[in-house]
Amino acid sequence: MSEQSAVSIPPGLVEALRGAKSIAVLTGAGISAESGLPTFRDPQTGLWEKFRPEDLATSEAFQRNPKLVWEWYAHRRELMGQAQPNPGHAALAAIERHAATFTLVTQNIDGLHQRADSRNVLELHGNITRTRCFEEDTLVESWSANGEVPPHCPRCGGLLRPDVVWFGESLPEETFEQALEAAIFCDLFFSIGTSGLVEPAASLTEVARRAGATIVVINLEVEPLASPDLYQLNGPAGQILPELVRQAWRDEV
Ligand code: APR
Repeated sequence: MSEQSAVSIPPGLVEALRGAKSIAVLTGAGISAESGLPTFRDPQTGLWEKFRPEDLATSEAFQRNPKLVWEWYAHRRELMGQAQPNPGHAALAAIERHAATFTLVTQNIDGLHQRADSRNVLELHGNITRTRCFEEDTLVESWSANGEVPPHCPRCGGLLRPDVVWFGESLPEETFEQALEAAIFCDLFFSIGTSGLVEPAASLTEVARRAGATIVVINLEVEPLASPDLYQLNGPAGQILPELVRQAWRDEV
């Protein structure tokens, strides 16, 4: 227990982090919770507690009511634009600076890792700041702001949609391949702020475990545990990660 923080970091984990050659990290909505962004499944506060994913996050929902879906993502885009990276995001950027090989695989569409200066980020579920043509399935950077909601593709006139992965849609293939590779070849794998309920992202932790990596789970809903190949740290990522970095490299985050 360090004199400054109430966060308890198992000494074996500090050693494992210092000694790791290749690190892979999977993050979920929990790492952005301390930036004021709701998660999906947290009781009362989670988005899916208030809204039905099938009404807002599927291709069918978009075809049924494109205006509703576009406006819901426009609202989230605004919230995410106003949010700031928190010390958890910053700590992962610090770990990347120390690691020989580092891959950050995120399920989040908020872009906060990149804004915290993380470099090698794989976005499995897309990014809310990008837009795609629903018909041509290509990225669209500009369109005429004539007040149409959703706006239309300047090339084909089709509806525009956020560049995020909806339920029932497949992940960007190459990105998931890179994530799998990072999980297979890492010697230390972090699972941070994810309920592990959504596939195929959730399977990455098991892929890393089977490939022999030491697993570190940071969440508000795990039993604390410290063993040579599995560490479970119960608490907010924005407090645990900076303390881990501080103990490993005396870096302040
Ligand atoms: N620090 C660490 N963990 C946290 C924190 C925090 N400050 N706050 C919440 N958590 C944990 C919760 O206990 C929960 O286990 O983060 C997890 C968030 O889980 P979900 O809300 O299910 O989010 P996520 O796992 O990212 O969802 C996966 O589901 O809805 C789809 O596409 C969406 O990418 C999303 C995917």
